[in-house]
Amino acid sequence: MVEIRECTAGDAAAVAELAAQLAQSFAFAPERFRESYAALLDDRGACLLLAVDDGEAAGYLLGFRHLTFYANGPVGWVEEVLVRPSRRSGGVGRALMDEFERWAARRGCALVALATRRAAGFYAALGYEESASYFRKVLPPQ
Ligand SMILES: CC(C)(COP(=O)(O)OP(=O)(O)OC[C@H]1O[C@@H](n2cnc3c(N)ncnc32)[C@H](O)[C@@H]1OP(=O)(O)O)[C@@H](O)C(=O)NCCC(=O)NCCS
Repeated sequence: MVEIRECTAGDAAAVAELAAQLAQSFAFAPERFRESYAALLDDRGACLLLAVDDGEAAGYLLGFRHLTFYANGPVGWVEEVLVRPSRRSGGVGRALMDEFERWAARRGCALVALATRRAAGFYAALGYEESASYFRKVLPPQ
């Protein structure tokens, strides 16, 4: 049975190993990961969840709550979700998303949204509707 819990400082190595698998547009940078990880644990608007199955880190989710005008208040945004390949199709991704939805609902969010390129079918299975296209511009390093 998979357990979903908030990450602690001691989970940094496990989350790094998973997050490195998600990196595509940018090469995974361990030093930058450590800085971001510490800051995220202190950020009350951030939600960093770990799925643990049989003592092994099976997946993680990084999401945020932020204020908007269009929804008359806060919304939840899923930035990253990844399940270890050997643990996929076993309900871990759904469990992570369910927990994030509860986290966001407790904090008054009107909706949960995200952008995806590779996992549209997963979100559709969870009841998400396609709503907008996603544009981005990679900025030059400062
Ligand atoms: C997308 C991902 C998180 C799904 O995690 P998972 O643990 O395999 O998903 P679950 O087993 O909880 O699946 C939940 C539901 O989604 C469906 N689903 C999962 N992946 C799917 C896919 N790629 N296409 C269509 N449906 C999918 C499952 O069939 C299941 O449906 P059901 O409950 O009606 O049977 C996982 O495949 C992953 O880490 N992918 C690589 C990283 C990635 O693409 N992350 C998303 C970036 S935005």
